[in-house]
Amino acid sequence: MKVLLSVKNINVSYGKIPVLRDVSLQVGEKEVVTVVGPNGAGKTTLLKAISGLVPASSGSIVFRGHDITKLRPYEISRLGISHVLEGKRIFPNLTVKENLLLGAFKARERTEEGLKLVYDLFPRLKERENQRAGTLSGGERQMLVVGQGLMSNPSLLMLDEPSLGIAPKLIEEIFEVLKMLKKQGVTILLVEQFVAQALKLADRGYVLENGVICLSGSGKGLCKNKHVKTVYLGGK
Ligand SMILES: Nc1ncnc2c1ncn2[C@@H]1O[C@H](COP(=O)(O)OP(=O)(O)OP(=O)(O)O)[C@@H](O)[C@H]1O
Ligand SMILES: [Mg+2]
Repeated sequence: MKVLLSVKNINVSYGKIPVLRDVSLQVGEKEVVTVVGPNGAGKTTLLKAISGLVPASSGSIVFRGHDITKLRPYEISRLGISHVLEGKRIFPNLTVKENLLLGAFKARERTEEGLKLVYDLFPRLKERENQRAGTLSGGERQMLVVGQGLMSNPSLLMLDEPSLGIAPKLIEEIFEVLKMLKKQGVTILLVEQFVAQALKLADRGYVLENGVICLSGSGKGLCKNKHVKTVYLGGK
């Protein structure tokens, strides 16, 4: 595995309250890596630390050979990390294309490249580029949210609960989208509450509980783990 992202022993606190403790994690090129854990475990905080939105008080984060631990969010995104935030919303009154362009902030020709990339992955968005985003189906809307994250053609796409707020029957659609991205070779760091699907999709996974990585392994291996089964898979 060629390592793309390496997080080593980071600690993050909000004020005096420690949230992440000695967290280490790696993402290899073209891997899908999933982080699961209960509410409040620190999953969102972990993604935010990687993208520079919250500072790590110790430890290091290295991305494609660059130490990004102390870099600013815009510098980190320029190096090729795209972070789709938890609960990310689209603008319902803008068209699909306008929403995508908002995800770009780039020179014109790069924007054209981004659109091509997203439309090749999601032809459905191309067909609907002039449709108001508010009229998209739930699954299509999530494609748009993911599409925005892809506009910069990132080397690493971080998705924080892409299924959030989606009707249960559409969850499968979201995972279809993620499967398609995986097939295309997009490297993904995924945080998800739908543990069974997320671990099945993942090459590798980590379990974060109370700010500590308590388990890690292959996606399939974690699905068979006794603790994971009991706590996250309803004993199945
Ligand atoms: N800006 C903040 N200031 C203070 N405390 C915060 C802040 N953001 C998060 N926290 C606290 O840090 C802990 C971890 O939060 P985080 O959002 O990372 O959890 P999470 O694993 O993503 O949870 P969820 O599954 O509910 O999204 C929680 O106890 C939360 O209340
Ligand atoms: Mg969260």
